[in-house]
Amino acid sequence: MNIAVKPEGVRESDAFILPLAELNPARTDRFQDDTIWPVFERLRREDPVHFTPDSEFGPYWSLARWDDIMAVDTDHEAFSSTEGIGLQTLESRKAFEKVLGRSEEEDIAAAKRGEGSFIGIDEPYHAPKRKAVSPTLAPANLAKMSPIVRDRAGEILDALPIGEPFDWVDKVSMELTAMTLATLFDFPMEQRRRLTTWSDMVMNEPGHGGVESWEQKIMSIFECRAVFQDLWNQRVDAEPGIDLISMLAHDPATRNMGYEEYQGNVVLLIVGGNDTTRNTISGSVYWLNKNPDQYDKLRADPGLVSNMVSETIRYQTPLAHMARVATRDVEIGGKLIKTGDRVVMWYISGNRDDAVIENPDAFIIDRARPRHHMSFGFGVHRCVGNRVAELQLTIIWEEILKRFPRIEVVGEPLRTYSAFVHGYESMQVVIPERA
Ligand code: HEM
Repeated sequence: MNIAVKPEGVRESDAFILPLAELNPARTDRFQDDTIWPVFERLRREDPVHFTPDSEFGPYWSLARWDDIMAVDTDHEAFSSTEGIGLQTLESRKAFEKVLGRSEEEDIAAAKRGEGSFIGIDEPYHAPKRKAVSPTLAPANLAKMSPIVRDRAGEILDALPIGEPFDWVDKVSMELTAMTLATLFDFPMEQRRRLTTWSDMVMNEPGHGGVESWEQKIMSIFECRAVFQDLWNQRVDAEPGIDLISMLAHDPATRNMGYEEYQGNVVLLIVGGNDTTRNTISGSVYWLNKNPDQYDKLRADPGLVSNMVSETIRYQTPLAHMARVATRDVEIGGKLIKTGDRVVMWYISGNRDDAVIENPDAFIIDRARPRHHMSFGFGVHRCVGNRVAELQLTIIWEEILKRFPRIEVVGEPLRTYSAFVHGYESMQVVIPERA
């Protein structure tokens, strides 16, 4: 048995010694304590198409290499999105079934009829629904939004304390994403942090990320649904606008959708636009601190901001994976994936595949092709919010560089307890001085 070489900077982990058959790459504590890297390093070399027969998520396949992930992500006929796009614990599935009074089988059957949020349905149903929201998130509309985002980014930064520690995640990353999302939804700005809370409630399990119990989590989701139902009712009777709710309420492809489907899309947009961007903003500060030579390069040439943003999106990989279920038997890398098997595409590993990316474990802000990464996925479900994310990141860094010579991370951040969202719960920083 080959033992993987421990990459520099990675803490000790049992990933080097466990028999392959016992390796459960989604084991969530490894994501929280940042010991996932040797697991994927080993899988890429020794077992790139890896089967975990038994786990808290049920049985699943793991893809660790770029090419295999790409093959599955772009084959939406053989790999369906209708049976869950992220690994979910069996416990969480049961809790939802109980409270919603609907079985998982019923949800899957509805998704196969094209009902549900558009990330969780297949063609031909998916494309027209995606098209209903994509104009709001496209560059032309974003150009209109960008001065608003810039103003708000400036306000957030100007209010930060100088010379004393504070939580960057709370004061900057969450604030900026909440404000941008409120702008996209035309949601009451003073209530913007409810969007953050709801996203956290959806994404986290009890004991983590502010969620105390299944009841609290589910009640919070109900509250979110009620608020967005009111917004729908207001927008559907008003003149069509360019916010996301109005687009959904007036577009022929979505205006007749049922309650569950609308709510599914709302949650998708709240969650899609929240954790991912938030964690990239925090990640950029973290990785620049870990790589001071790169931070120096950025300060010397602010023209590198958009490259640095893409490199952070690769390096952080804010969504560690997406999952699919095989609709027929398919062979990948000499292994037989059977109809009905769950396949997890580990973007976080594909982004570190040295067969495709040179020196992938290094954070290099002036790489030749910085947008060559898999963090937004590929194929029909490729992230529709990628431009919004890049816009927010670019603007916040342009504004940071005008104001602060340095942001110093003081102490290790607390990482998210999740094998799906790869991010930071909190990160203490100090800004020593203004420019
Ligand atoms: C750095 C930030 C972001 C990352 C890394 C990210 C990542 C992803 C990934 C991996 C997918 C699935 C791709 C696939 O299955 O092939 C996705 C889909 C999606 N994302 Fe993002 N995302 C980000 C920001 C956003 C933002 C800001 C929004 C909305 C405002 C958003 C909305 C969506 C939606 C609606 C989908 C579903 C697209 C579809 O099914 O057609 N995302 N994103």
